[in-house]
Order: sequence, then structure tokens, then C-alpha cells
Amino acid sequence: MNEGDKRALLRSSVREFLDFPSPGICFRDITPILKDPTAFSAAIDLFESYLRDHFPKIDLIAGLDSRGFLFGPALAQRFGIGFVLIRKKGKLPGPTECVSYSLEYGKAEIEIQVDAVDPGQKVVIIDDLLATGGTMAAACELLKRRNADIVACLVVIELSPLKGAEKLKSYPVHALLQYD
Ligand code: PRP
Ligand code: MG
Repeated sequence: MNEGDKRALLRSSVREFLDFPSPGICFRDITPILKDPTAFSAAIDLFESYLRDHFPKIDLIAGLDSRGFLFGPALAQRFGIGFVLIRKKGKLPGPTECVSYSLEYGKAEIEIQVDAVDPGQKVVIIDDLLATGGTMAAACELLKRRNADIVACLVVIELSPLKGAEKLKSYPVHALLQYD
């Protein structure tokens, strides 16, 4: 399958649910990608080829709680590198670094274990979806505080009208699929 076919397979695998989780929201559901091994391999292939084409060295993949965890470990295996977790607050034991960020209503916090990343390591961040970019921007801030060298931010889906990539302007953002 060529890259265009892989992207088309992914797009046809994403389901839309109107008015979930609240009225007016169109939820893009990536679970069919996970259910179909060909589609899942296509997603990992596309992430891998983007990284190989653009970045000669990567040390670590960091996944965002929770759906970044579904794609990150498989991608890390392709490069023979490790995967680390950025979790919602209160889930990780031991010393952690924490960052708060704003949601539409209220605040959220994410954290990482302080020994997850060494200073200067080249880290790729991965999640399923970029909407407002608040979550990804907080992850970048968290890794910056640990003195990581952030290489790129990867997502399966970017909701382009929400302009999340603009929040991450100093870091390359790569989405496998963009939705208007
Ligand atoms: C969703 C999605 C991204 C984030 C994107 O996660 O999986 O992580 O929102 O939104 P943003 O760009 O506006 O920050 P959610 O917080 O719903 O949690 P989950 O992944 O644990 O389901
Ligand atoms: Mg999420």
C-alpha cells in the first residue's frame, strides 16, 4: 500500500459521533483503527516515515494520557527506543513534574516522572488528536521543564479550525489526518 492508500484507509476508519460527549460536538472515534491491524500498521508506518524523513535522531517517544498510549509504544518499537508516559495528575508514583493548563471549563494537570527523560534527550510527543492544542502545549511545557529537546508533536487527527498547531508554533506538528 502506498502512503496515499494508507491515509485513505485511516480516514475511512475514523467514525463520527454527533453530540458526543456533549451537544454540538462531533466526536472523531479512532477505535476502528485499533480494531483493524492493517489500519493500525498504516498509522504507525506513516508516523515512522515522517520521522525518518525529517529527524535523523530520536531518543524517546512520550505519549499523552490516555489515547497517546495506544500509538506511542508501537512507534517506539520501530525505532528501537523507549516510551514514557505523560499522565493526568495523581496516577504516577514517585517524584513528578507537573504542569497545569486551561480547559474550556476549569483546569487540568498533567505530569511526568522526573526520571523519565534525561536532559538533552530528543523526544517526540504523540497523542490521538489535536483540538485546541492545550493538552499538547502543556506536554511541551512539561518536557521543556525537564530540559528535553522536543523534536516533534505527532497526532492521528488534527481538527484544523481549532488552530491547535498555532499554540505549538516553535515545534513541528504532524497530523496523519486533518479535518475542517
Ligand atoms: C482528548 C484527546 C487529546 C485532547 C485534545 O483527550 O485525546 O488528548 O483531548 O484536546 P486539546 O487539543 O483541546 O487539548 P481527553 O482529555 O478527552 O482524554 P483521553 O485521551 O484520556 O480520552
Ligand atoms: Mg487525550
